[in-house]
Amino acid sequence: MKKVLTIAGSDCSGGAGIQADIKTMTAHKMYAMSAIIALTAQNTTGVYGVMEATPEFVGQQLDCIFTDIFPDAVKIGMVSNSRIIDVIVEKLKQYQARKIVVDPVMIATSGSRLLNAEAMDAVITRLIPVADIITPNIPEAEALCNLQIATPAEMLEAAEKISGMLSGAVLIKGGHLADVADDLLYANGEATWIRGERINNPNTHGTGCTLSSAIACNLAAGHSLKQSVMNAKAYVTGTLRAGLDLGKGSGPLNHCYYL
Ligand SMILES: Nc1ncnc2c1ncn2[C@@H]1O[C@H](COP(=O)(O)OP(=O)(O)OP(=O)(O)O)[C@@H](O)[C@H]1O
Ligand SMILES: [Mg+2]
Repeated sequence: MKKVLTIAGSDCSGGAGIQADIKTMTAHKMYAMSAIIALTAQNTTGVYGVMEATPEFVGQQLDCIFTDIFPDAVKIGMVSNSRIIDVIVEKLKQYQARKIVVDPVMIATSGSRLLNAEAMDAVITRLIPVADIITPNIPEAEALCNLQIATPAEMLEAAEKISGMLSGAVLIKGGHLADVADDLLYANGEATWIRGERINNPNTHGTGCTLSSAIACNLAAGHSLKQSVMNAKAYVTGTLRAGLDLGKGSGPLNHCYYL
């Protein structure tokens, strides 16, 4: 059985973060492990509280994981504290972690910044460089390269510029586009559109977490980067198309739609 690790925050409502990651990994028939960097009190209507782990305790979790059950791939979600980012980067290097997917969660769909300037700097200068692939949404891609993105041509320009900031690949997610849901993969100087049907479903809580975890699972399975992204995109489309409708706000996906 392949083993996949998520390093992220807990979502007590079960739709995003650690919980979305574990469901995604389980639906891919893989063994899921988690290093929890924060507890959040949230649900489909908003985030009401955050309680961070100490950097030392994050390090202790990673020591326990890497010295015992070595992950075949690692997914890193939102980390809003530069000291925790430094511990994560140190441990990934110490244990020579492979197949690292970084979801550089920095800006909410509403446009509000989720990270302070120091954490933003740590993500850009220290976390992103260790990734095999990063998965910014459009506002995050704009923040990474200081370009406005409104058209496919601008997505391409941004992807080219961001790819100069790391040796890994960049996937700019098109979930915020108007009519389509096309993502753009830029790897080794080659751009590939990962086309997707836009599903008319307001329940999109956790799409970003789910996509990055599914990419990690496909990489763990031994697929190429491009195939991994294509498979992960198809999986997210399936979880949305299943039409689960829970909660009073933007509800969660059906991670187990085909089981
Ligand atoms: N309505 C939709 N129909 C089909 N695919 C979608 C839809 N919304 C998002 N996606 C897909 O979901 C994935 C996540 O993209 P999105 O842009 O929503 O990320 P995100 O903003 O980081 O998500 P999150 O808000 O969970 O952090 C992408 O593959 C995107 O194309
Ligand atoms: Mg996101």
